[in-house]
Amino acid sequence: MVVRTRVNGEWREADVWPGASLLTMLRDSLGLFGSKNACEQGECGSCSVWLDGKLVCSCLVLAPQAHEREVRTVESLGAAAMNPVQEAFIEAGAVQCGFCTPGFIVAVTDLLQRDPAPNEISVREALSGNLCRCTGYQKILDAVALAARRIREPST
Ligand code: FES
Ligand code: FES
Repeated sequence: MVVRTRVNGEWREADVWPGASLLTMLRDSLGLFGSKNACEQGECGSCSVWLDGKLVCSCLVLAPQAHEREVRTVESLGAAAMNPVQEAFIEAGAVQCGFCTPGFIVAVTDLLQRDPAPNEISVREALSGNLCRCTGYQKILDAVALAARRIREPST
């Protein structure tokens, strides 16, 4: 079936198997490889995208469910230059293999859009669905704190 979805501001069409996931559609039909497939079970958050502004695991959404809806992927962030969250992850050393990073970047961006000054419990809660297999999580928490500070005080 043909699924028509507004992806990162542009209407796109994909001819997909009705049982295909949104993640498969994004990667295999639309060539958007930023969202990663690490578990395909909703366990790791590597495939996080926004569907009509709500954070979802795209591996758990059927592609037809995105028909005539709005999807934003990690590719929408920092298209011209890195956004503060991306910069903070690099500066804080929160990226190792980088496989989980797009999902974290999306989840952190989502959190900081809702709450630019989250406390540590809110951060841990917001990132509880994201798994990193490489790094200790402390550097990721440091990156979130740095990004939050930069968003609140851009000159720091
Ligand atoms: S690939 Fe979707 S949650 Fe892991
Ligand atoms: S940096 Fe490798 S899985 Fe997170």
